[in-house]
Amino acid sequence: MTTIRLFQDEDAPTVAELIGRCLREVNSRDYPAELIERMCAHFDPPRIRELAGQREMFVAVDDGVLATVSRDGNKVYTMFVDPAAHGRGLGRLLMGHIEGLAAADGFDHMETGASITGHGFYHRLGYADVRVSETEDFGLNYILRKALR
Ligand SMILES: CC(C)(COP(=O)(O)OP(=O)(O)OC[C@H]1O[C@@H](n2cnc3c(N)ncnc32)[C@H](O)[C@@H]1OP(=O)(O)O)[C@@H](O)C(=O)NCCC(=O)NCCS
Repeated sequence: MTTIRLFQDEDAPTVAELIGRCLREVNSRDYPAELIERMCAHFDPPRIRELAGQREMFVAVDDGVLATVSRDGNKVYTMFVDPAAHGRGLGRLLMGHIEGLAAADGFDHMETGASITGHGFYHRLGYADVRVSETEDFGLNYILRKALR
């Protein structure tokens, strides 16, 4: 059975490895290799620990860590599912979890930045495009929002 729990310090290598695998095996279809490697370097274990200190980071665990997502209030960050577990509802499960927490905190909408690769996923979850952002470290991203009530 899949459970959701808060990130623990010792998850950092596993989460960094999971994100790296997603980027190299999945997101690489939409971004150049050099940019993918920059993104991977951005999510090494020390940086994951640092981010977990700044945001609320969750992991979905079954037989090991299968997915992760973070939130800072109503802002979504680092939504990644192990490529071997794609299409099993883990992304939807984690998003529902943090949307519920943000709603309970009184936020009326959720906001996320989506890679080209994850754009359709957020549409499927009811998010709508707000604008496009382009940065040196992450390339083209879509900013999307969803009303929480
Ligand atoms: C995008 C991602 C998080 C989706 O996770 P997932 O666990 O495979 O998604 P789910 O199984 O929960 O899918 C939920 C719904 O979205 C749809 N969906 C999933 N990925 C999709 C995509 N890339 N494009 C369009 N629809 C998608 C599913 O078909 C499903 O629809 P349904 O419930 O109506 O049948 C995962 O593919 C991933 O980690 N990708 C690489 C990293 C990435 O791009 N992250 C996104 C934010 S930057």
